[in-house]
Amino acid sequence: MREKTFILYTKCFILENMQILAIETSCDDTAVALVKAEKGNFFVMDDYVSSQTKTHAPFGGVVPNLAARDHLKNLPLLLKKIIAKNKIRQNNVDLIAVTQGPGLIPALLIGTNAAKTLAYAWKKPLVGVHHVVGHIYSNFLQDSTFPFPDYPSGNSSRSNLIRFPILALIVSGGHTELILMKKHMDFRIVGQTLDDAAGEAFDKAAKILGLGYPGGPIVSAYADKFQTSAKARIFPFPTKRPGIPQSQALPRPMLNSPDFNFSFSGLKTALLYTVRDHPRILKSKKITGELCAEFQQAVIDVLVSKTIRAAKKFKPKTILLGGGVSANKELRKQLGEKIKEVMPNTKYQIPDAKYSMDNAVMIAAAGYFKWEFSKNRKPFYNTWRNLEADANLRLNK
Ligand code: KG4
Ligand code: ZN
Repeated sequence: MREKTFILYTKCFILENMQILAIETSCDDTAVALVKAEKGNFFVMDDYVSSQTKTHAPFGGVVPNLAARDHLKNLPLLLKKIIAKNKIRQNNVDLIAVTQGPGLIPALLIGTNAAKTLAYAWKKPLVGVHHVVGHIYSNFLQDSTFPFPDYPSGNSSRSNLIRFPILALIVSGGHTELILMKKHMDFRIVGQTLDDAAGEAFDKAAKILGLGYPGGPIVSAYADKFQTSAKARIFPFPTKRPGIPQSQALPRPMLNSPDFNFSFSGLKTALLYTVRDHPRILKSKKITGELCAEFQQAVIDVLVSKTIRAAKKFKPKTILLGGGVSANKELRKQLGEKIKEVMPNTKYQIPDAKYSMDNAVMIAAAGYFKWEFSKNRKPFYNTWRNLEADANLRLNK
């Protein structure tokens, strides 16, 4: 049995010990996890993710009904495996957590129905988790051997604590949001994309450049390989284009707008026109790679600048990064460097790379916190009777 220990980096409160079975099927990954919360630590007992990349690759994006078909095939297999390997029985599971939304409704229905069935059969409480909340709480899972700082038996450094207020930048295939949290399970969206999500923009860029699917990891791998200094760039671009400095090939949409919102569809269109007007770009791996680096930098410039602007206004003690795009090494690095430069007293927290992408461990962590902080409050309370998948689930639900 695999066992991994994490610390709950948060302020002291009385934490229940419990074992959580979690399910995630909001998009194109089927995931299950068994997580034990004990004495202020998370122990990941087991977790599995079954990816559907091969199914969706020919279409260049996720096809909802094909995703549901794969979830329907894979989820029972993963549940059977995790239950058998860990000898999960009615008497050793305390809570079931499942992604309730947002996401693709045919996909969400597979996970929520499985979770409701288990909750009914085992007579266990059930919590529906917002997918973005899962990404936020992936930051509360940290590799460490130290015990929980504020827990009675704990002794590790308090500097490791994630302190409120928190400003979270969540960037994934479906979301680009800046979220302010003054306490656990309290979310205020202070900025969001007006059109495409950051991950979606990466996916579309890869499609335009003929690089395959999913785009984020491929575009960033190309960018890493062929990145050159700005001065050495050999883009075949005209010298003067309105609103774009000569050192840049692509625009930074809404970089200077006074709000904390984002827009990425114009960036994608600029890339499309660049390739249309200079088809020889696609013939050279080097120039394609340089364009990938420029595209990646355009996204990062906007994300970093808006996050810093929001941080200056809301003065968080911690800035968190989360969502699939948080796997991007340059984004992780450049946001960290900027925070260190302009607000060195603010803690910067990024998730373990393997929990950046969709997984069920983060759903278990978020489900645990939701349960702990809201078990006596009705609106949060789900059972197998009333939990319903919701493609447009709102954050504070
Ligand atoms: O959170 P996630 O696994 O699924 C959603 O909730 O959407 O995020 C997937 C997104 C995809 O758009 C993928 O292209 C992007 O995250 N992504 C990346 C990287 N790895 C994954 N984007 C940029 N750089 C990466 N290294
Ligand atoms: Zn996600």
